[in-house]
Amino acid sequence: MTMFPSKVKHLQRLLQFRHTLWCNPSFGKASCSRLVLGIETSCDDTGAAVLDETGAILGESLHSQTQVHLRTGGIIPTVAQQLHRENIERVVQEALERSGVVPSQLSAVATTVKPGLGLSLGIGLEFSQRFVRTHNKPFIPIHHMEAHALTVRMLQPVAFPFLVLLVSGGHSLLAVARGVDDFLLLGHNLDEAPGDTLDKVARRLSLIKHPRCSTLSGGRAIELLAKDGDRARFPFRTPMGQTYDCCFSFAGLRNQITMTIKKKEAEEGIEQGTLLSCVNDIAAATQHTVASHLAKRTHRAILFCNANGLLPSHSPTLVLSGGVASNQYIRKALTIITETTGLRLLCPPAKFCTDNGVMIAWNGVERLREGKGILPPDVDVSYEPKAPLGVDMTEEVKAAAIKLPSVKMKILN
Ligand code: KG4
Ligand code: ZN
Repeated sequence: MTMFPSKVKHLQRLLQFRHTLWCNPSFGKASCSRLVLGIETSCDDTGAAVLDETGAILGESLHSQTQVHLRTGGIIPTVAQQLHRENIERVVQEALERSGVVPSQLSAVATTVKPGLGLSLGIGLEFSQRFVRTHNKPFIPIHHMEAHALTVRMLQPVAFPFLVLLVSGGHSLLAVARGVDDFLLLGHNLDEAPGDTLDKVARRLSLIKHPRCSTLSGGRAIELLAKDGDRARFPFRTPMGQTYDCCFSFAGLRNQITMTIKKKEAEEGIEQGTLLSCVNDIAAATQHTVASHLAKRTHRAILFCNANGLLPSHSPTLVLSGGVASNQYIRKALTIITETTGLRLLCPPAKFCTDNGVMIAWNGVERLREGKGILPPDVDVSYEPKAPLGVDMTEEVKAAAIKLPSVKMKILN
């Protein structure tokens, strides 16, 4: 983003002054509230939504690319870009039409600009900048992970600070959310993200050929098959057992799983690309080990927060979100940890855990309310494929070297 801070402050004040209140019943569903259009294109979902200031969803639209990427064996960035390009105009139009709102009624447009696939982010950003310039509207650039973290506040009152575990196809992170744009980063993934691992394991198992999984994302396919599997048959090692911090690593686990799959293929005398007879058991063991790793790192993060007074003593909260948080088994694993440590666990419904335009619009509402990061339409904004969230505390967490008491992870399917 290129702009001088003093000029930005002056313009922000000007823009806040110009925000108008809608109190006209002829505006249809929208009344007495500022309205925000949110646009999401950071990965493989083209999403748009119009929200009012209370978090009411007036209209939304989502185009998922999952089916295409399942057929091509993973997300090919140029394919994702082309699909965003083909769909963005229609998706935004649909969200607006469903809301009964016309562009002139909007108070701002919020769009994901970081982190994500550069080619995908570029489409949403280019569209949004054209849109705000055409309609002379303020622009609110959004951090995708900040949006995942704040979504829960759209659904129920959750005061800052709270601990948040975000797990998706691109990320895993633990952070203390202290304000709309104020995060302490306690841990992050050192290699691949858990959703990516589940997607790759599902591909290696050729689950697309499984009659019950052919249209499901890797994570959902693993969850479904794991229900009928015996996790004890493949005791994979939980990653980073000897590293006493809150970071995550899934690449080593994937290697363990791949070796097991190869061994089983040899035993069953089948080629890669054919379904193994033990897919359910491998799915169950994979899911359990991912859940256990997430639970252990989160347990340590809670103990770190307690030792440093980072969470309130009354009703301390863990928020779990991101696409992988739709997984019921993982939710149960985290429930064991929050029950052990006296936290309340909040998790948005699956529809709001996976990527969508609503969460981006809500982040826009939160920023609009606080007057934070609101830009005039003519400011040039760049997208950022890599963008850490908040103040990095991972070294402090590591230095604390907190050992975990043992907790029985007896999770029922
Ligand atoms: O947050 P999201 O929609 O997109 C990213 O920002 O990455 O997350 C997508 C990821 C995919 O890797 C998908 O396999 C995973 O979330 N996922 C799940 C489930 N549903 C989606 N993983 C585990 N269990 C699920 N039920
Ligand atoms: Zn996401």
